[in-house]
Amino acid sequence: EKYLVIHGPSLNLLGAREPHIYGNLTLDEINNKLYNEAEKYSVEMEIVQSNSEGEIIDLIHKNSNIMGIIINPAAYTHYSYAILDAIRAVKTPVVEVHISNIHARDSYRCKSVTAEACIGIISGFGFQSYILAFYSLLANNGKIEL
Ligand code: DQA
Repeated sequence: EKYLVIHGPSLNLLGAREPHIYGNLTLDEINNKLYNEAEKYSVEMEIVQSNSEGEIIDLIHKNSNIMGIIINPAAYTHYSYAILDAIRAVKTPVVEVHISNIHARDSYRCKSVTAEACIGIISGFGFQSYILAFYSLLANNGKIEL
């Protein structure tokens, strides 16, 4: 029972990058929380960060039939039809995550082109957006009841 978390561009800089928007936790700290959650529910969790669109697409393809993908496409959210198509091409249910509330920011961030292929979006809860996304997939897969 595998779940994959994909962190998009510049999320490797979390903690140092605009902390007033993205919080003080580093990517490693967030990932540790996610690994702990996976352990709690005895499922496998792989976490990858990539600054490259092609790499993100390859990762989605490689995980075409797993229990769930949690993706924060970062800036690609707003214009990557290539990532949208990759999500559409796989069976795996995908939840889109944003640390900030993309609807409360610059107008170019209000539109997600990738969300359309996802089962849902969680945006605006800080690092907790990732945890909520994991819970939503567990619930979607009948593993927990919310
Ligand atoms: C983000 C929001 C995007 O607009 C931005 O480009 C990011 C992070 C978020 O998690 O809030 O890099 O996806």
